[in-house]
Formats: sequence, C-alpha cells, structure tokens
Amino acid sequence: MLKFAPPKRGGALLVLGLETSCDETAAAVVEDGRRVLSDVVSSQAAFFSRYGGVVPELAGRNHAAKVLPVVRESLSLAGIAYGDLGGVAATHGPGLTGALLVGLNFGKALAAGLGVPFVGVNHLAAHLQAPLLGEDPPEPPFVGLLVSGGHTALYEVGPGKKGRESLLRFRLLGETLDDAAGEAYDKVGRLLGIPYPAGAVLDELARSFDGEPEPFTRPLPEGLNFSFSGLKTAAARRVAELVGESRLEERRSAVAAGFQAAVIEILAEKALAACREISLNTLVVGGGVAANRGLRETLSRRAEAEGVEVRFAPLEYAMDNAAMVAARGYFLLAAGVTSPLELEAVACLELGV
Ligand code: KG4
Ligand code: ZN
Repeated sequence: MLKFAPPKRGGALLVLGLETSCDETAAAVVEDGRRVLSDVVSSQAAFFSRYGGVVPELAGRNHAAKVLPVVRESLSLAGIAYGDLGGVAATHGPGLTGALLVGLNFGKALAAGLGVPFVGVNHLAAHLQAPLLGEDPPEPPFVGLLVSGGHTALYEVGPGKKGRESLLRFRLLGETLDDAAGEAYDKVGRLLGIPYPAGAVLDELARSFDGEPEPFTRPLPEGLNFSFSGLKTAAARRVAELVGESRLEERRSAVAAGFQAAVIEILAEKALAACREISLNTLVVGGGVAANRGLRETLSRRAEAEGVEVRFAPLEYAMDNAAMVAARGYFLLAAGVTSPLELEAVACLELGV
C-alpha cells in the first residue's frame, strides 16, 4: 500500500477527485475536503439526447477521450501542479462498468506515478457529502435524502468512529421499490418531448405553469420506501390521451406541473417522516433531483414548519461532479483509509445496507 504523502501547501491537503460513473467526465481539486479550488465537468448529455439516454459503450469511449484534458483543466484552474496533490480519489461504483473503469484506472495510475495515496469513492456517499461542501457544514448525525437518476433513498448519516468523526457513516432507512425519481423525470419528460436529461426543463415547465395541474395520486409505500413507477405510468397515460386535445401545450404543462407536485410531495413526506422516526432535526439532500427548484422551495418550507433544518447540495454540486468525490476522498484519506491499486469497478455498489 502507498504511504500517505506529507501535506502540501501550508499544511492543507489537496485531493484530486475523478468522476466517470455515467455520462459526465469530471475532475476537481478540493482543499481539506471543503474548499473547492476547481470543478470541471464535461457532460455528454447533449451527445446522448439523440439516443434518448446513455449508451454505455459510447460513454466509456467518450470518457477515455476527455479524462486527460479535464484533469489538466482542473489543475490549471486550481493553479496547482501535479506535484501539489496529496491524494487522488475516484468513483469506483455504482455506475456503468466501462465508464467507471476510465476514471478509476486513470486515478490509480496517476496516484501510483505521483507516489500519493489513492482511494476509491462510493458515488452515493459522494452525493451526500456534497451538501457539506463550503463553510459552516451541518454536523452529523442527520437524515440524508439521495435523489438522483439512478437512486432514491433515505439514510441515517452518522459521524465516524472515535477519532475519525468527520468520516460520515450511512445506514439505509428506505429506498425506491422501482424507479428512481430522476429516472421518472427523464421518462415522463421524454413523452412530453423534452430531450434527455429532462429534469431541469420539466422543472421549468412545471414552475412556469399557473393553471390547474393535472391531479395524480401519490403512491406512498410502507415505511420509508418510495415508488415512482405508478406515477410515471399515470403521467404517461395522460400524455397519450392528450393527442388531439385542444390547447395541447397548456395541457402538457398541466401534466408536468401535476407530476412535479406529486414527486415533490412524496419526497417531502418521506424525508420528514424519516426525521420524525429517528428523532433528527437536520436533513441533507443530494443528487441531481436536489437541483429541482420546486423541491428546494417546498421541502424548505415544510421542514421549517416541522423545526427541521434542510441543507441542499449547492446547485453546482447537486448533479454529477468530482468536487463531491474529492471531498469524500479527503475524509477517507484523513481517516487513514486508502484503497489497493487492485480496487475494482463495481456496477451495483450499495451504501450502508
Ligand atoms: O445525480 P445525477 O447527475 O446522476 C445520477 O447519479 O443519476 O442525477 C441526474 C438526474 C437526471 O435524471 C436528471 O433528469 C435529474 O437528475 N435532474 C433533475 C433536475 N436536474 C437534474 N430532476 C428534477 N429537477 C431538476 N431540476
Ligand atoms: Zn450521481
């Protein structure tokens, strides 16, 4: 195993994060797990919008072409050289195996070449680290709501063991039984003619609509689990029925608004139920859907009414990025956790089961 390099830059530790789990090639330099010096994201979303979703083989090839320029840019924006890095962190799962392998192997090779420690990062843990970037982070324990294109889950997030309190630990409280929230957004958006990934545009469409939203029932499965496939199917059925209706554009917006209102209510209901159930009054929210403005407004309002403080991932770190990976990597390294260079990419990696 590689030895921990001495901290650089006046005692601060600079970690390079790499993220290639899906269709974003990202690299970031983060100081001491909180201060983002650079965050470069090269998205393939526009490339994949013509396919209606990500094609794994092509994602891997695109990452391979992009990873070096993205890393170089992240160092140059941070104003540092390779030799200033004290560690390298890369996402090793969950995600598309061929895509993960690009960032993972690049990170391992770079760390080995520089003689600094390497650590593999769980993408889900990184999403829940994102709300802690910057000044004045909330102290664990808190409830973590992860809402992305691949996952929707609630966790009890606690401090690490004695002496490594800053290293978050996770206990799964509930998760989606079928589709993830972001996946439902993308599928309903596609039927509404919105290119992949549809979340942000559907959010705008829903928010700019001031008529009566289409009413959809809100499935609330037992405990702290979620279910979005029934809602997705109901919205899809309604879109199909719209063909031939007058005021088509307005009706489409009404479907978007009704769908969004239902998703937000389900997420808020379950997240606040989790806070009550385990008696915690801080909630952190990460993942692409955490960028949803409607969710940010409604959940903040409802949480305040229940005496719960909500911390969303900053907008620029809600969707896939490498700053969150570098931050999680820093806290692992600072707690003495490193990964062997044999670490494999894992397509289905859980968090705190
Ligand atoms: O976290 P992320 O970048 O990738 C995964 O780990 O899955 O999340 C991407 C997902 C996509 O499904 C996208 O449509 C959704 O986040 N998304 C949104 C918004 N922005 C992105 N969903 C709802 N509202 C948004 N504003
Ligand atoms: Zn993600």
